Amino acid sequence: MNKISIIGAGMTGSTTAHWLAERELADLVLVDVVEGMPQGKGLDMLEAMPIIGRDVEIVGANDYAATKGSDIIVITAGLPRKPGMSRDDLLAANADIVGKAATETLKYSPDAIYVVLTNPLDTMAYLTLKLNKLPRERVIGQAGVLDSARLRAFVALETGVSVENIQCYVLGGHGDEMVPLTRHSNVAGVPLREYLPADKLDAIVQRTRKGGGEIVNLLKTGSAFYAPSAAVAQIVEAILKDKHLILPCSAYMQGEYGLKDLFFGVPAVLGRKGMEKIVEYELDADEKALFDKSAAAVKETHEALKKIAKI
Ligand code: APR
Repeated sequence: MNKISIIGAGMTGSTTAHWLAERELADLVLVDVVEGMPQGKGLDMLEAMPIIGRDVEIVGANDYAATKGSDIIVITAGLPRKPGMSRDDLLAANADIVGKAATETLKYSPDAIYVVLTNPLDTMAYLTLKLNKLPRERVIGQAGVLDSARLRAFVALETGVSVENIQCYVLGGHGDEMVPLTRHSNVAGVPLREYLPADKLDAIVQRTRKGGGEIVNLLKTGSAFYAPSAAVAQIVEAILKDKHLILPCSAYMQGEYGLKDLFFGVPAVLGRKGMEKIVEYELDADEKALFDKSAAAVKETHEALKKIAKI
């Protein structure tokens, strides 16, 4: 049986375990700093397995030794942004947490593939790759599957067509400057731009850009977790089943799209080796301009990280 360790057993971490257990893909370990919490959630979930008929071992722990021999490490540990906290404060706090999670887990699982979810996402993936000195295949940031799923969900609501017929690609950095590629998105092969009037499509794109904020405003405390964790589960499944599934992921750029030395949302082929290949779309001038603007924003956060982390 494969083994997956999830660092951070909060909302996204425990829901990731839930989606993964249902798929019966791997034994699961939940790690968190809060005493008893990952153990309690792990045991509770384990007791659900007879009901749903899945043979999955699930354990919780407060130390990294329990993660030994993992095929995949999912990092969701982190602090949410609190009132009065700047983005840089959040960056420093989460860099500390993610940095420790990355280096400690590597000691026990030297061959693991990392899937990173903690925000600021692209920069936390960059930190994981640099600190652990991993080849780029083995570090994947989750952002694009979620952003694209939001766009797909809104298109489905607008058109009444099954979500399965709707393919959308939201690329770029995971932030306000994300790049919804409407030209490459379609409903059963019909381009989105032909399927929907421009004003409707524009409203949907705007709602997608602010998708995370919409949920935060509704929840008041905490941020989205069902869709982000479902996205992680899809990435993990594509890897473990060696599917060569193309998904929008945050990947380390080495010249693709004219970008270097940053994590950025692009379509990537996922298989047993991890992020096996970046797919390059031909972009028109407008799309390229949006890409470059988004890349500049990500680069800025990477630079801020370099000032505080030893990478
Ligand atoms: N080691 C392990 N776990 C930690 C550590 C640490 N050093 N520091 C904090 N944690 C745990 C917290 O105890 C908490 O249980 O990380 C968990 C985070 O869970 P939540 O607060 O519920 O946050 P969640 O909604 O899961 O989001 C986590 O994912 O989507 C992103 O923006 C989101 O960066 C955030 C992250």
